[in-house]
Amino acid sequence: MKKLFAVLLSAAMLVGTVFAFAACGNTNNLKVATNAYFPPFEYLDGNSFTGVDIEIASGMAEDLGYEGMTVNNMEFDAIIPSIQSGLSDIGMAGITINEKRKEAVDFTDEYYESAQVIIVKSDDTTFDDCTSGEDIENKLKTMPTGYKIGTQRGTTGYMYSAGSEDFGYDGFSNISTFPYTTGALAVHDIVNGRVNAVIIDKQPAIMIAQSVSGVKVISEYELTSEAYAFCVRKGNTELLEKANAYLRKIKENGELDRIISSFFDGTATFKHENK
Ligand code: ARG
Repeated sequence: MKKLFAVLLSAAMLVGTVFAFAACGNTNNLKVATNAYFPPFEYLDGNSFTGVDIEIASGMAEDLGYEGMTVNNMEFDAIIPSIQSGLSDIGMAGITINEKRKEAVDFTDEYYESAQVIIVKSDDTTFDDCTSGEDIENKLKTMPTGYKIGTQRGTTGYMYSAGSEDFGYDGFSNISTFPYTTGALAVHDIVNGRVNAVIIDKQPAIMIAQSVSGVKVISEYELTSEAYAFCVRKGNTELLEKANAYLRKIKENGELDRIISSFFDGTATFKHENK
């Protein structure tokens, strides 16, 4: 049965892409909005979508009685609008729960705790004497004007670096923050010399940095503390409750931990071509 569902799933993905482009109406698939450039939560392995969120989505679609699932892959900042408009049923994209976002969508219970970290050139010694996230933040405040930080557009990393009242981050007046389509593109620009550093979620930072030579992650010092959840259209309590029930089930039966560790044990790899 699992196998059959997997086959249906990959067929559904191909169809999903077609449907997404042709903007067709309802299928009996769970329509998942994501941005699959965020390993290990969602990324491309060749032509297939994979990652923690993708596996949870697939199990959820099956458990909730959908025929399969359709992955609607889009820019990160298009996910919430896609949920609001009803083009997608659920946003599953390592999305940080946040008060401002709660005005636009409803969040499920959290399923993962995360944090922003910084990536720099391998030979960059700027942060060598730091021993905490606070030290890194203070050091950032003293960088000369024009210090450049790359981030993924619309993410908490961007808000942290650029500053956002809505997200509760002061930002850094001496720093220029650049929004990129994906985190990996931003990390490439460290190597290209266009930005000094990248601020992005910790586990994606580790996996992206492994795929790009010449950079290092300062992963032990966390700049923020965040929690991920899925999001549905405001007022869609039916799906919200079902998604929460599924989350509770996989938290209790160990499936969530199993999925997470299978992508964190070093066997999963991200290829930077799949930016
Ligand atoms: N956790 C961050 C946020 O919610 C980044 C999420 C980026 N996710 C992605 N699939 N690109 O803003």
